[in-house]
Amino acid sequence: MTKRIIIDTDPGQDDALAILLALSVPDELEVAGITAVAGNVRVEQTCVNALRICQLAGRPEVPVFAGAAGPLMRPLHTAEFICGADGLAGMALPAPRQAAREVHAVTYLTEVLRASVKPITICALGPLTNIALALRMAPEVAARIERLVIMGGARDLGNMTAAAEFNFFVDPHAAAVVFDSGVPITLFPLNATYQAVASPARLAGFDDTGHVQAQVLSMLRRERPGGASLGGGEGHPMHDPCTVAWLLWPELFEGRDCRVDIETAEGPTVGRSTIDWWGRGGQPPNAHVIGTLDADAMFERMALCVRGLDDKVTEKAAE
Ligand code: BDR
Ligand code: CA
Repeated sequence: MTKRIIIDTDPGQDDALAILLALSVPDELEVAGITAVAGNVRVEQTCVNALRICQLAGRPEVPVFAGAAGPLMRPLHTAEFICGADGLAGMALPAPRQAAREVHAVTYLTEVLRASVKPITICALGPLTNIALALRMAPEVAARIERLVIMGGARDLGNMTAAAEFNFFVDPHAAAVVFDSGVPITLFPLNATYQAVASPARLAGFDDTGHVQAQVLSMLRRERPGGASLGGGEGHPMHDPCTVAWLLWPELFEGRDCRVDIETAEGPTVGRSTIDWWGRGGQPPNAHVIGTLDADAMFERMALCVRGLDDKVTEKAAE
């Protein structure tokens, strides 16, 4: 049965691959909409990037909405030093022909959740600002979210500071609202997503004669700013695609139910996620936290899916 999802995102190269993966399997995932948030780059650009990726996938009709321009309480931190000035360094994508919808992403989220007959799953790939605002504006929509599949946090070291992962560092207050909401959550922290490194061996399944695959390869083969010093080693870590891959192939992942708390106080640990992996605190779990994954199988399957996108784009062009 097709699962209805919304992707809340700040593309970002790994966000781009997550979106492409979701759009490649329309029989399994119906992408109802994409909501853009400020994160890797400013929201005007993450919104344009979401539109460019839908266009690349041959799916320009997917509605894209611009959301929060900055975190709830803190100044915006962006990550051009990793993603490049336009957020999608390594890809060469034309400007989108479609425009974003007029409605604000948070309004869209509350309206679509209220109106949907069945609860909707949300893949949250950036700072959680849009999701927290939707939960604050319309608390009743919490019950309309089937599950939040979130990339964020870390069980050990962060990648933005020693303590904090980027998405939770950018908007810790939003993350705290979300983890307090009672919505079922699956969390992919860094220690899981750093297993999903796009190493040369794992890229063997992509074939650059297809346009979509060529763009993906060019993005994944580009030089890594900071080299291996930021974790991963042999290639770019594909944090965000893990969330979509989990929806498609849960058998590739293992985790456990844990209590997750987010540090909101300013200081060296702001944005840190305290993940009670061993259940020491005795608090009830508020998330299913992924610990390990079969990254080789995940990349093999992702490559097949992106190939499938190329086939669909070619078929459409021939019609
Ligand atoms: C997360 O931060 C972003 O830069 C990536 O897109 C990912 O969502 C990893 O910390
Ligand atoms: Ca992201």
